[in-house]
Amino acid sequence: MSLLELINVHKAYAGVEVLHGVDLAADRGEVIGVVGANGAGKSTLIKILAGAERMSAGELRIDGEPVALANPHDAHERGIRTVYQELTLAPELTVTENLLLGRFPRERGLIDWRKAHEQAAALLHEIGFGAINPRSRAGRLSVARQQMVEIAKALVVEPRVLILDEPSAVLAGSDLDALFALVRRLSDRGVLVVYISHRLVEVLDLATQIVVMKDGAIIATTTPAHTDEDELIRLMAGRRLEQIYPDRRPHRHEPGPGSREPDPRGRVRRHRPDRPRG
Ligand SMILES: Nc1ncnc2c1ncn2[C@@H]1O[C@H](COP(=O)(O)OP(=O)(O)O)[C@@H](O)[C@H]1O
Ligand SMILES: [Mg+2]
Repeated sequence: MSLLELINVHKAYAGVEVLHGVDLAADRGEVIGVVGANGAGKSTLIKILAGAERMSAGELRIDGEPVALANPHDAHERGIRTVYQELTLAPELTVTENLLLGRFPRERGLIDWRKAHEQAAALLHEIGFGAINPRSRAGRLSVARQQMVEIAKALVVEPRVLILDEPSAVLAGSDLDALFALVRRLSDRGVLVVYISHRLVEVLDLATQIVVMKDGAIIATTTPAHTDEDELIRLMAGRRLEQIYPDRRPHRHEPGPGSREPDPRGRVRRHRPDRPRG
């Protein structure tokens, strides 16, 4: 049974449909790389997973059980944490305060700051971001380090599903290495990571499953072993697959009309390849 399953998910904004029936299944420990051009629907998809947007139709299942996420709090309760592209830290607060807000260690009712900083330092160290000083004001850190604190914040309580929307956009060098190592470690521990990136090399490096979105639909699902940068670019741009690749596992539910039908040659999963653009 999949940890996470989206079944025929639709989303409309003010009557205009932007997701046209998305199906996705992912297990513990997977790293799902989500790629697609601007406007393909990646952020909308993860906002639905994050409880930040409600789907217009369709179903989300966790451990096979249908769940409704009314808001981000519901998603947190289910162990789904999301790190958005936009920074959400309070710039005037320290890294420790940003990380532990709402869960400060207390001593006879008062916040035990020494302990709080220790906890924050231990978390940062554990996730490989030990270069960040927990006593720094968040607003004084580089954008890269702020992004890393955002990620740390999502890991204060270890999630079951961690969604990262363009996490590497502002990272470089050793910070990027630390992020990759972290994603691998989380995956090894069984966390399902959904990794959105326009850097295809990263996705090919990290992902266990690659999902290509275009015009509000998943148009292909593949794996790093079965594709390459050129093909992903072609898919994102909408050119047809010339080659077909093996499916990774059996389908676990009835496919909706036009989606996830096994290829007659039994090889690739293409999703709604003939959907008109727009
Ligand atoms: N709040 C919104 N209201 C109306 N349309 C939106 C909203 N958010 C996204 N869209 C539209 O939905 C489509 C998918 O957007 P998005 O999910 O942000 O794509 P991506 O993250 O892949 O760039 C786009 O056409 C975008 O304009
Ligand atoms: Mg986006």
